[in-house]
Amino acid sequence: MANIFLIGFMGTGKSSIASYIGEHFGMSVVEMDETIEANEKMSIKDIFAEKGEAYFRNLETDLLRKIGQGDNTVVSCGGGVPMREENIKVMKESGVTVLLTAEPEIIYKRVCKSNNRPLLNDNMSVEYIADLLGQRREKYEKAADFSVTTDDRDKRDIAQEIIHRIAK
Ligand code: S3P
Repeated sequence: MANIFLIGFMGTGKSSIASYIGEHFGMSVVEMDETIEANEKMSIKDIFAEKGEAYFRNLETDLLRKIGQGDNTVVSCGGGVPMREENIKVMKESGVTVLLTAEPEIIYKRVCKSNNRPLLNDNMSVEYIADLLGQRREKYEKAADFSVTTDDRDKRDIAQEIIHRIAK
């Protein structure tokens, strides 16, 4: 099976859908943020604070390239991955890219307690989320082969829709 790259804003459910698909459809799972934290032995928050965002973005691209060399992996991508053209190219060449979406109010409810998302930590509000989402929307849509809404749905339902649409 080709890789499945789950993209989308923070809090759209990429990690939980990826692990559900991995478990029920026999694919390996990579959660990019977790993998980067394990490789660097540092939290995302500390990587941003101590090494800077550009350093983190390069780690993302390196990891994505590595994943792109294999197959049968469902990848929970960091929310910023589709902002780089070269990342989109890797995803297009090695699998199917699925955009998960959610309304800003729902994203806010899912992420408001997190303190490991540096882009939101000083800006935790529905307005800021809506604004950043608006800035990113075009790139997310350009990167995706198709998109799936996650508002008010359980992960089984979402995962089944993804697998069904890929199998078509
Ligand atoms: C980011 C999303 C985060 C993480 C980092 C930056 C972004 O990943 O990579 O905080 O730029 O949207 P999640 O989408 O998994 O929270």
